[in-house]
Amino acid sequence: MAANTWDASAWDARYREAQGGAETRLWSALPPAIVIDTVPAWTPGRALDLATGDGRTAIWLATQGWNVTGVDFSAEAIDLARKHADDAGAAVSWLVADAVSWSPEERFDLVTIMYLQLPEAELRHVLARAAGWVAPGGHLLVVGHDRLNIGTGAPGPGNPDILYTPEILRSSVGTLDVLRCETVGRDLATDPEGPDDAHAHAHGADAPARIALDTVLIAAAQP
Ligand SMILES: C[S@@+](CC[C@H](N)C(=O)[O-])C[C@H]1O[C@@H](n2cnc3c(N)ncnc32)[C@H](O)[C@@H]1O
Repeated sequence: MAANTWDASAWDARYREAQGGAETRLWSALPPAIVIDTVPAWTPGRALDLATGDGRTAIWLATQGWNVTGVDFSAEAIDLARKHADDAGAAVSWLVADAVSWSPEERFDLVTIMYLQLPEAELRHVLARAAGWVAPGGHLLVVGHDRLNIGTGAPGPGNPDILYTPEILRSSVGTLDVLRCETVGRDLATDPEGPDDAHAHAHGADAPARIALDTVLIAAAQP
């Protein structure tokens, strides 16, 4: 199967194209529902949103009192994120950097990684590094498209090498305590990743799926 990964310039082109089209956002304005449902239980502190895209999760966290850094290797994505943050009146530190090689100088009370698409070996590498950036007592929250989506008609990437499994997540986060790690159904109507979910075009199935399968990990660092 052809590789379905994108380098930074390909993501730049995708964000530029979205701005010129009818759909000006590639992703939803709100973060994934699991972020909205989970994060309020934790005391706001320093947060990192890795592969932030145009910033939906970072901006929402900032509105909830978190001191947020949003990182993406697409400069176009970060430009858009800045605009969305200005519109929302949210203060976020934005950074253009590659999650595979960049290292922060601080630790974070929360690290979020939403739908980062990387070949499995690179994803494991990034997860292991990100786990090490969680401050004592802090949390890591990861969501990705699950490999079980293949053939269901759910929107999203069709290349299994960039899809997630609970095993990949569970075994990549080192000494963090895994609080939750599983495949979950996401209702495309109420929790869309972006406009594509609303259209719900099929990958290899006759009928579009109304549920997509995500892999979710919530892990905590020892206090
Ligand atoms: C599917 S989008 C998700 C964006 C955002 N997390 C969200 O949920 O709206 C994946 C993002 O990962 C970024 N990305 C992919 N590989 C990356 C890397 N190696 N370092 C930093 N960002 C990366 C892309 O530029 C893109 O913005």
